Amino acid sequence: MSMPAFKTDAAPVRPKLYSVEEAKQLDATTVRELFTAHVNPGQVHFLKLLGFDKIIVDRAQGMHYITRDGRKILDFFGGFCSVAFGHNHPRIVAARQKFQDENRHEICMAFMSQYASALAANLAAIAPGDLDMVFFGSTGSEVMEAALKVAEQAQGPGKSKILHAANSFHGKTKGVLSVTDSTLYQSQFKLVENRVKVPFGDIEAVRQALESDPAIGIVVMETIQGGGGIVEAPEGFWRELRALCDKHGVLWVADEVQCGLGRTGQFFAFERDGVVPDVTALAKALGGSKAAMGAMIARREIYMKAYGKPKTALIHAQATFGGMGEACISAIEALNVLYEEDLMGNAQRQGDYLIEKLNGLRAKHPSLLKEIRGRGLMIGIEFNDISETMPFGLKHMVALLDDKLKGSLCGFIGALLLKDYDMLVAFTEYNRNVIRLEPPLIVTREQCDEFIAALDDLLSRGITKIVTDYLRKVAVAKG
Ligand SMILES: Cc1ncc(COP(=O)(O)O)c(C=O)c1O
Repeated sequence: MSMPAFKTDAAPVRPKLYSVEEAKQLDATTVRELFTAHVNPGQVHFLKLLGFDKIIVDRAQGMHYITRDGRKILDFFGGFCSVAFGHNHPRIVAARQKFQDENRHEICMAFMSQYASALAANLAAIAPGDLDMVFFGSTGSEVMEAALKVAEQAQGPGKSKILHAANSFHGKTKGVLSVTDSTLYQSQFKLVENRVKVPFGDIEAVRQALESDPAIGIVVMETIQGGGGIVEAPEGFWRELRALCDKHGVLWVADEVQCGLGRTGQFFAFERDGVVPDVTALAKALGGSKAAMGAMIARREIYMKAYGKPKTALIHAQATFGGMGEACISAIEALNVLYEEDLMGNAQRQGDYLIEKLNGLRAKHPSLLKEIRGRGLMIGIEFNDISETMPFGLKHMVALLDDKLKGSLCGFIGALLLKDYDMLVAFTEYNRNVIRLEPPLIVTREQCDEFIAALDDLLSRGITKIVTDYLRKVAVAKG
């Protein structure tokens, strides 16, 4: 292959670059073309299947996306829990605006940051026990990497094996991918080998593993499995896990990236059981739904063992963008908003209400709805698998579009909720029969009623009409 010719003496030529204003004005067709050419062509296939490729969001405020053509879409998806404060929360936007107007610095790697220090102090004040030491990153994967690293460093090489759960999701970077239980995501990558898997919530399996293998030094689990379809461990599991970890000198890492920050009605989901892990991690909602921000929080004793000396301190120092100024102040304001606007109380109240109403719908539509589960505003609606009940002709037509749609109602329901009711819900990686409801914590009773009425109306059409409406309104229009 010949090398492209570079002229070294010529001044750089500015290629055709989009300006910010041009980017704002791009229409759906152009965005689809650019996304296909430069971002992820395969993903466009799924967006098309759901009719999501027709939508260009112009603005977002509170519970709604406002589209270019003026539709107001009620957001019960919540960016997989990252939109906990609603879109553009006025207090968080104002704090950021003021920070910019005052020309505050963003990056200050040479000095100590007053913003990162204050945010870390806030998180330590909120977190129970001696979960006092904080590391900032920009994503859930990054802080989960940091969580596993601090645990491994504290335990030393003889006790570095990691126990993780089936159906877990901890991120897609190489380390945490090894404990993310998905053959799809793990693909053919060479993974970290020192790991053992047990069924989620099975305390006997954990006991057996810890008793039989003293090399296991770390247990990592989501407190509520999100990607697995909103799955909880049985009553008493976390207390027994804590006791087992203490008995065997094992460190417990609680992944609260999705379920943490008030969503379940308590700041950390593990608080319900009155237990404290050794290390935990937050991300998604931490940046106030405006900034990319994650935090790993470790018990002081463990942190000190791992990185507490000058000799070891730099093994763990922040990455370039860990603790950027505006991201930190967004998180500081968000934490204050969380308490001052009683968003955790609201999550509890609206969550209880939604779950009660959804159980009512389950009783009304038993052939469609299998189970409602969750806590606070982290709710899973499991549909019955319709592979057997879908009329044969329809099954065939649907399979032609994509095999994934064959037994699952979720794609049709999600697509029609958007198309006919302007409502957005989230799908689930590992269980395609589960729709996730993770709306912002500011959701009102009226918006819950609006959602329930829409879902009831849609389910009342019955399987055949839901599938034919999908084929007629979404799939046919997709061309
Ligand atoms: C429980 C959990 N851990 C970690 C992650 C990874 O976070 P991120 O996508 O920000 O890397 C996610 C993302 O969905 C998650 O749900």
